[in-house]
Amino acid sequence: MNNLLAFWRSTAGKKVVMGATGLVMIAWIVLHMLGNLQAFGGAAKLDAYAAILQGPAHELVLAVRALLLFCLALHVVAAVQLTLLDRAARPDAYARKVPQAATPASMTLRIGGVLLLAFIILHLMHFTSGQLHPSFIEGEVFRNLVIGLRVPAVALGYLVAMAALGFHLFHGAWASLRSLGAARPRPNPLHRPIARALAIVVWFGFSIIPVAVQLGWLTLPGE
Ligand code: HEM
Repeated sequence: MNNLLAFWRSTAGKKVVMGATGLVMIAWIVLHMLGNLQAFGGAAKLDAYAAILQGPAHELVLAVRALLLFCLALHVVAAVQLTLLDRAARPDAYARKVPQAATPASMTLRIGGVLLLAFIILHLMHFTSGQLHPSFIEGEVFRNLVIGLRVPAVALGYLVAMAALGFHLFHGAWASLRSLGAARPRPNPLHRPIARALAIVVWFGFSIIPVAVQLGWLTLPGE
């Protein structure tokens, strides 16, 4: 227990925790994206998939929710603590503020993280509990999805959040592998093919849903 606490208190330990929790969340995000893409198979397909999650697989879903919440909490606390440690270590800003291998992703990582946290809260209130949905019906996932994303400002909000997610994954996936010792340092950000491919696939796989609703490719049955 003491060893675990000492590990968590060290900077390297916090980075490993961020990396490991990040990878767990990435795995779930990819599964969620594949689940959402069932919408292109029609209302019956998506609702049948959701019914399995809400029915026979409900206990598994509850366990996964608990794991995700645990990972998100550790990830956010470690990120805040590392930011504070970083600031305390250099009270005077460097004369040259931009780090050498700065990418749009690394510069927006912290802001993007805050944006994603806000997105997750609003997203759950939109599609899971329904308070932010214009006409939420429990269990009618396809209908909720199409009606929810028909509002242009909402679709735009989702697209902005998915761009933030893409940037966050591009930097974060690579940083996770480095923190866990599975990737070598690469000063040129373009030499991170796994992180780049993952960010593009996830960004595209999620963004296509609000785009499809707005363009009328995904419509309610009978429309
Ligand atoms: C265009 C992008 C997205 C769409 C259309 C979408 C759609 C949905 C829908 C329809 C649900 C409700 C599913 C159900 O009740 O069975 C849901 C739940 C959820 N979404 Fe998303 N999602 C998107 C992106 C994201 C992202 C990027 C994250 C995380 C970073 C996320 C996290 C969640 C979580 C945590 C839940 C609750 C899962 C549960 O009930 O256990 N979503 N999403």
